[in-house]
Amino acid sequence: MTNVIETKEPLKIGYQKTCNCPDNHISCVTAKEWVKGMVIIQTFYYGGRDVRDKNVHPAVFPISLPAHFIKLLTHKGELVLDPFVGIGTTLVAAKDLGRNAVGFDLKEEYVETAKKRLAQTTLESDTRQIAIVDEARNIPAYWEENTVSLCITSPPYANMLNRPRLNKSIRGNLRDNGQYLKVQQYSNDKRDLGTMDHEEYADALTEIYSGILPLMRPRAHCIININDVWWENKRYLTHIYVIEALQKAGFEFRNTFIWDKRDLVNKVGIFGWPNNFISLGATMEYILDFWKPPSQDSKVSDQ
Ligand SMILES: C[S@@+](CC[C@H](N)C(=O)[O-])C[C@H]1O[C@@H](n2cnc3c(N)ncnc32)[C@H](O)[C@@H]1O
Repeated sequence: MTNVIETKEPLKIGYQKTCNCPDNHISCVTAKEWVKGMVIIQTFYYGGRDVRDKNVHPAVFPISLPAHFIKLLTHKGELVLDPFVGIGTTLVAAKDLGRNAVGFDLKEEYVETAKKRLAQTTLESDTRQIAIVDEARNIPAYWEENTVSLCITSPPYANMLNRPRLNKSIRGNLRDNGQYLKVQQYSNDKRDLGTMDHEEYADALTEIYSGILPLMRPRAHCIININDVWWENKRYLTHIYVIEALQKAGFEFRNTFIWDKRDLVNKVGIFGWPNNFISLGATMEYILDFWKPPSQDSKVSDQ
């Protein structure tokens, strides 16, 4: 796939820390908050400002998820990037926490919703949060290298949504919940990662993240929320494709977190019983943590 990048006006957005924390700290968190962040299994809940209407967007993560990693991995005033921003959840979290942020999405309608959500957050802040309609491959054209302190996103889960929704994890007659048998893909755009099979998807991710790597500061983290997919009784290990794609792009894999969703899944249906044992994918998601490797002459210990 060719990577055609138009030259754009560089974005005017802050990226330097504005807090008084020591320069060798990765973020403003206390030791106690750091220890909580080290726990592999984390829970994130949807609150009043989260959007859960699948007609607005079929796959939105809760504000608490990007907020957790923004707090843990950036200082106030630093720059956060979400290459697949959807309706702007990462930008809302960044605004709440006084971080600059830029998000990209192919679909204009989603970006318009992101802007409305940002406008509803009336917090006084000297930071900016910008939502842009563009495809993630074009991100390098927007600003300077070594400026992004955290890249965090939930990309499409390959072509998982490109099929009628069967609501298999929902019990019996509750399955027909208005979404049943609906195809809820983001778009038909060929550049949309949600239209791609796993091989094409991994290649696209490698290309996109190869472009993002130079924009990131050394040791800046890159978080990806993803899940594996069941399709026609086969398990597709989407998270492995993501790890390999980012490694090819030059990122180093650091940590796996599990988003424990058991409390978000209720009225669960039984499927596979009694002869085809299938785990309930909806009860967890992966949160994969990479970083831009430090340069060879880095004096800071990795441990
Ligand atoms: C899982 S959703 C992100 C949802 C987001 N976390 C939120 O809470 O709103 C993935 C998004 O990626 C977008 N997308 C797919 N391919 C893209 C591409 N090549 N460039 C930019 N955005 C893309 C889709 O339109 C979709 O909104």
